[in-house]
Amino acid sequence: MHEGNTKKGELLKYERENQAKACFQDVYTAPTPHGYVAMMAKNGYEIGEQARPYCIAAAELLRKHTENAWPVQMLDVGCSYGMGSAFVKYGCSFDEMVAFFSTRAPQDPSAACEVMRAWINVTPTPCDVRCVGLDSSKAAVRFAMRAGLLDGGIARDFENPDIAPNAEECSWLRSCNLLISTGAIGYVTDRTMAHIVPHIGKDHPSEFGPLAVLTILRMFDATPIRDVFEKHGFKFEKVPGIMLPQRRFTNEDERKGVLKILHDKGIDTREWEDRGKQFAELFIAADPAHFPELLEEMKRTRSKCMCNKSQRVAYICR
Ligand SMILES: C[S@@+](CC[C@H](N)C(=O)[O-])C[C@H]1O[C@@H](n2cnc3c(N)ncnc32)[C@H](O)[C@@H]1O
Repeated sequence: MHEGNTKKGELLKYERENQAKACFQDVYTAPTPHGYVAMMAKNGYEIGEQARPYCIAAAELLRKHTENAWPVQMLDVGCSYGMGSAFVKYGCSFDEMVAFFSTRAPQDPSAACEVMRAWINVTPTPCDVRCVGLDSSKAAVRFAMRAGLLDGGIARDFENPDIAPNAEECSWLRSCNLLISTGAIGYVTDRTMAHIVPHIGKDHPSEFGPLAVLTILRMFDATPIRDVFEKHGFKFEKVPGIMLPQRRFTNEDERKGVLKILHDKGIDTREWEDRGKQFAELFIAADPAHFPELLEEMKRTRSKCMCNKSQRVAYICR
């Protein structure tokens, strides 16, 4: 089980929830993504792909408004080995990543970076974004940078109360006008967000943006994260009617622990987690004046996902 996300002596955040969840720390911190991709595939991990259409829709909305004066620069919080970039910028599917790392990518880190770089060099970029990644795993960020998935990387654990972004990191944060995070809230809390949100989009204040799109598992209370966004002038809300499957429960202990937390919070799991998967909700943030347009875009995307079952993004609640 996960050890929690705070240091000795500090108040633990989401302690009970993180205790109930399986811990994948070893595969998050390996020099190459082989173990991560294999472990996630084994557990049916799909939240990155599920969130992709919403992240792309937010990026396209930004582009429409900024008319190329300010390229979309995406900050992926809890980016792992550059997964948000692989999904959003390069349009890779998770299955492609699994096939790539199980058959074509050597275990040696330098060689693996080289073949990954060669692969993405010949991959079209369906969504024209620059990507900056933040993750506490130095190994993961190093791989993503060397492989060319990330244009900028911040390998830091801002959950540690002794750590704050340095000048270079603040400048990366300021250069980003789209914040995304998939599958990372829980490890990442309001503590990290409090270091990020004040800087986002500050490089090129424009008439539209910055925007944020986050997935949050139903067992995690989003209130502290919302409070950070609101403190810095954003409107932060759940997009109604969207339930995104994250992954299967790893075992019976995890299933029972997570269901107990959800039930204690009064959450009805009958149509969702009871069927064997964890579910996340989609949250967005924007300046209050821009929020309605972002929300409409998310709703339009939800409808498209419902129609396009081939994208496997059809878990819409009633
Ligand atoms: C389940 S993975 C999600 C990866 C990716 N976003 C995706 O959806 O495929 C969670 C990630 O959160 C990262 N993480 C854990 N604690 C963190 C922290 N304190 N700050 C930033 N990232 C953290 C882990 O290293 C891991 O890469």
